[in-house]
Order: sequence, then structure tokens, then C-alpha cells
Amino acid sequence: MPRYLVTSALPYANGPAHLGHLAGAYLPADIYVRFLRMCGEDVLYISGSDEHGVPITIKAEQLGMTPREVVDKYHEVIKRDFEAFGISFDNFSRTERPEHYGFAREAFLDLLKKNHITEKSMKQFRCDECGRFLPDRYVRGTCPQCGSSNARGDQCDDCGAWLDALELVDPVCSICGSTPVPMETTHWFLRLDCFQEWLEEWLSGHPEWKNNVLNYCRGWMDKGLRERAITRDLDWGIPVPVEGAEGKVLYVWFEALLGYISGTIEYFEKKGDPDGWKKYWKDPETRLVQFIGKDNIVFHAVIQPAILHGLGGYVQPWNIPANEYLNIKGEKFSTSRGTAIWLKDYLAHFPPDPMRYALAINAPENRDTDFSWDEFRARNNELADVFGNFINRTMKFAHHTFGGEVPSPGPAGDEERRLMEAIAATRDEMEKLMRGFNLKAACLKAMDLAREGNRYFDRNRPWETAKNNERACATTIYYSLQFVDALRILFAPFVPFSSAKIGDMLGKHELLWKKAGLENLEPGHALGRPEILLDKLKKGFEKVMYEAPETGKDSGDAGKVSYDSFMKMEMRVGRIVEVHDVKGADKLYRLLVDMGGRTRQVVAGMKPYYTPEELQGRKVVVLVNLQPARIRGVESNGMILASDGGSDRVRLLQPAEDAAPGDRIR
Ligand code: MF3
Ligand code: ZN
Repeated sequence: MPRYLVTSALPYANGPAHLGHLAGAYLPADIYVRFLRMCGEDVLYISGSDEHGVPITIKAEQLGMTPREVVDKYHEVIKRDFEAFGISFDNFSRTERPEHYGFAREAFLDLLKKNHITEKSMKQFRCDECGRFLPDRYVRGTCPQCGSSNARGDQCDDCGAWLDALELVDPVCSICGSTPVPMETTHWFLRLDCFQEWLEEWLSGHPEWKNNVLNYCRGWMDKGLRERAITRDLDWGIPVPVEGAEGKVLYVWFEALLGYISGTIEYFEKKGDPDGWKKYWKDPETRLVQFIGKDNIVFHAVIQPAILHGLGGYVQPWNIPANEYLNIKGEKFSTSRGTAIWLKDYLAHFPPDPMRYALAINAPENRDTDFSWDEFRARNNELADVFGNFINRTMKFAHHTFGGEVPSPGPAGDEERRLMEAIAATRDEMEKLMRGFNLKAACLKAMDLAREGNRYFDRNRPWETAKNNERACATTIYYSLQFVDALRILFAPFVPFSSAKIGDMLGKHELLWKKAGLENLEPGHALGRPEILLDKLKKGFEKVMYEAPETGKDSGDAGKVSYDSFMKMEMRVGRIVEVHDVKGADKLYRLLVDMGGRTRQVVAGMKPYYTPEELQGRKVVVLVNLQPARIRGVESNGMILASDGGSDRVRLLQPAEDAAPGDRIR
């Protein structure tokens, strides 16, 4: 018997989870895992927070928090929101655990001993103005491969290329916008070139993988693998476990990939079975299935296999069903760019199932897809109308006419035989699709089946036979109830909360895939109370999400801001220490503002009203926790407040003489 180890990419703990995360790597994995469990397979589902690297330190700098505070906060937020969406991890671990440090250190030393890692001097960008090295996302520029201006030091967000910062065209320091200079520094390199031959052979054994994955890998192989640095000059992360490596940490991707293993180890340690993980990671019967977004392909399908092969004795990915992106108005959802619909905002107003269903149908399985609230509403209403309505009318009927019990049917006619056969056929087709990772097609099949149910009900008119042919009516309701049970089973991976509710209504909770299409409910079986499953939504319903964000219970007074909401705005006194122009912008200044120890960069449209000399040294009021933005390519972290009396009367707010930078305003 094979066993399944399913993983979802470890999300960076640099912000809450958004719909793009959910659609790309978590929902599909959860659907797949729930299905496998219903088939009685041995399956373990592992993920966790990715807590190191530049995405975290940049966020910490933006928020004026320590990296540790950032990951502690977002690890909990992400975990809670995924749970609320029903993502059924067996373990959601984190990489800031000492056990993970230990495992990553051991792996590094083992690869070093085996000569898969070597030490070398290299050139790295350094910013003179900021006085620091600029690893990974601290540099931005134009992608040398696709020409997109969205490239960052380690990766291009648009084409997914894994870059070396030195290859970027027109690189700039993402902290201050100045041009960085290459400097010599020492790092440790993973010798991917040694693995090329083995990788090609191994990849050729997986012609069944998705095209996007195979194409990316082929691209990498054709270019020829080079050694890559797997350490960084950074003070947040796992220290390089070698003497003379002070100030250097393991590259986040190198150690995060090992997080799948350390997260499995943690799961079994908690269970009191410290060796249990080995069965999943070392026994060749394991099928390792890794759900990721397309920007993660090279790491999972090239780097990770090389690391695992180098360590020796580990299973390799059996499949990597990578998804494309879920976009919003053509743009990628992105935490670091602040373009996203957060799970928590959705969950504050709506139940998880309609979104699970909408994203399953609109999944970016083979190409980028666009999310829109109109499309979501159509899917919600389809779920309510077709699936919810069939269940509702059947349950109501059973209660009114048969006293809340499954009635005794007359003999099954052709109609009934065809109905039950249609269920069995859908079940088997869905199984094939699910095992082949065609989750969207499987979900469509389930909905087609629900339509069948409504047709059966309509054709047999139980509301009429109730009056003149009770036997026929009982037959229709009996089979409709069996049909409801089948829908409960077949929809469970997609809409688990609704499925459980149906379970309550039917008084039946067993979830076995192969039982869909059997007559699971005996005549005389007592049913639970009927309940409305899902509400329909009207055009514009989504506005509630934007009108009173997070104001909670005290938002009854429309148009007023609660005290709590007001207190969420963090305003502080700052002092302008540097004034710079912004290339190509005649109204903007790039200001460095001392916030009482920390300096923050703000782009402000003050040029028409103040000269640099007037601003230099001046105390101002800064809204600190405004969403960071990029203005003309320059990072802006906050807003400087001014009174606006029309085009020629814009005046900076002036804190009192003895107010000091960092003082909070309330
Ligand atoms: N944190 C990465 C991202 O969001 C994914 C890491 S997957 C891991 O893109 F396996 F490396 F952890
Ligand atoms: Zn800089």
C-alpha cells in the first residue's frame, strides 16, 4: 500500500494569508487530502510558516518591529485563518523552532562533508548609503530574462526566474532607491552542477507531471545547472554552522525546504513516536505530493531533489502539482506589494464554503485566472440554488410528509436505477480526476450531478404524488435522500462545512468515498432538523467587507469611526533628516524621517509647497502604519500629515517645540 505525504508550500510569515495563497497551494492540497482520507489512504498533510529571509526583515523594518515579533504575529494569524477555511493540516509547523535549526544545521554540515557545498568568495551588492549588504529582495530591478520591472534580487515575480541579483538590469537598493555596488564577500555554495545528470534522469521518470513544471525544469536543465550561494549576509535566520561565518545565515530557501521534514518530525514527536517520521520520508512506498505556486517550481523540482539526493536516503517528490496565479484585475495577489484580499476580511462576513467552491472551480490549475466578486457571487448562488436547494427541498419534504424519517420505498423503477448508476459513474470519474489532480474538473462533475438530482425530483413531482400515490411519493423521497447522502460525500472535499451540516440533517456522518451511490439510509432512519444550507448573495454584497473593516460590533453608527479604529492609526512625531528628489517626478520628495532612533522613508508630494531647506530638520506628524507603497519605484512607508486649504495653501502639521521624534499622537 502506498502512503501519501502531502505538503503545501510554507507561507512566509510576513503578512496574513490572502486568496492567492488559498487558491494556489492550500485549498487544492486540502481537497486532495480530504479525498484521499475518504478513500481510506494513509495520508499525512504538513505545512508551516516560513519565518526567515528578507521578506521577513523587510516587513519588520516597515512595521518598526523586530523580525521575531513579525513572525510570532503572522504565524498565529495565518494558522488561524487557514483553520477557519477548513484547511486540514496534520501539522502546521514553523521554521523558528530550535528543532528546525538543528535539523537544518545538520543537513548543511552533512552536505559540506560530502563536498556538495563549497566555500567561495563572490560579489554581492552593497548599498553605500545604507551601509549594508543587500541580499535578495533588498535589490530591485529589471528582469534579465523577461524584461519585467518587477524583479527582485532573488526572483522575478512575473516569469518566476530564480535570479542572481548581479544579473538585474538597472538595480536599485529597495531601502533607499540608490544604485548599489558589487562588493566581495564569502559564501557557501550548493554545487548543483554535480547533480545535473542525476536530476535529468530522475525528471525523465516523471512525464506525467504538469506541463508548467516540466517546462520550467527543462529550461533549467538546458541552461546547465550552476553552483548557487545558499548563505546570506543577514542578521535574521539560521546562523551558518561553521567557524568564521559570523553575520551570515543560511539562505531561507535552503532551510525552508527542510521545514517539510522538520515539520513531520515535530508531528511525530508530539505523538510520542519520535521515529514515526522516517516511514514517511525514507520508505520508498511514500508518495510525496507537493502543492505550490508556480514561482516555487525551481526550488521544489530542482533544488530540493538535489538536496535530498545529496543527503541520501530520502524519498523524492512523486508529484508537484504547481498552480499558476490567481490574479485580481490582472495583477498578482501579493503580500509584499499590498495587493490582496485577506482571508480574515472575507471570513469576518462570509462562510468559508462558497469561497472554497468558487476557487475550486476558478482554480488557476493551468493558467492564471482572475478573481472577481461577480464571478464569486455567481458561484455562490449556483451552490445555493442547485446544491443547497435540492438538499433543502428533499429534507423539508421528508419532514412534512414522512415525519422526519426515511420512508419505505416501492420497488425501484428505471428512473431510480438510472439515478443510482449516475451517482456511481460520477463517483468513479471524480476519483480518476482527483487522483490525476484535476480537482476543478472533479468539482464541475459534482455540480452536474447535483443538477441531476433536481431533475429527478422535478420529473417525479412528489408534491402531486403526495396527494394521490403515497407509495410513489415515498419512492421519490427515499431515492432523493440517498442522493442527498451521495452529494454529502462527493462534495465533502470541496465544501466540508456544508457537508457536515448535511450530515447533521441526515443523521449520518461516515465519510467513505466508495459509499457514494449506495443506499446508505435505511427506511425508518431518523433524520435531523432541516436547515438552510447557504444564502444567496445580491450584487454589491462585497461592499460590507470594505465599509467597516475590522470595526467589529461597535460599527452600528454608520459613517462614524470607533475609538478602536481610530487607535489603530499609529501617528507619531518625526523629524525630517534628509530631503531628496525623486527622479522624473516634479511634485515628490523622498524624505528620510527620524522616528526616534529608527529612520523611515516616506515619499511625499510636498515639492510645490516647500523647498528642501524649509523641510530639512523640521518636525512633522507621520502616519506610521499606512500600507507601504511604491511611488515611482521608490518605497514609501507612511504619510506625512498636512492641512489642505487648496492648491496654494498646503501646510505641514507642526508638533510642539518640546515634542520629540517617536512620541505617539492620540
Ligand atoms: N515561503 C515561500 C513562498 O511563499 C515558500 C517556501 S516553500 C518551502 O514563496 F518549502 F521552501 F518552505
Ligand atoms: Zn540603500
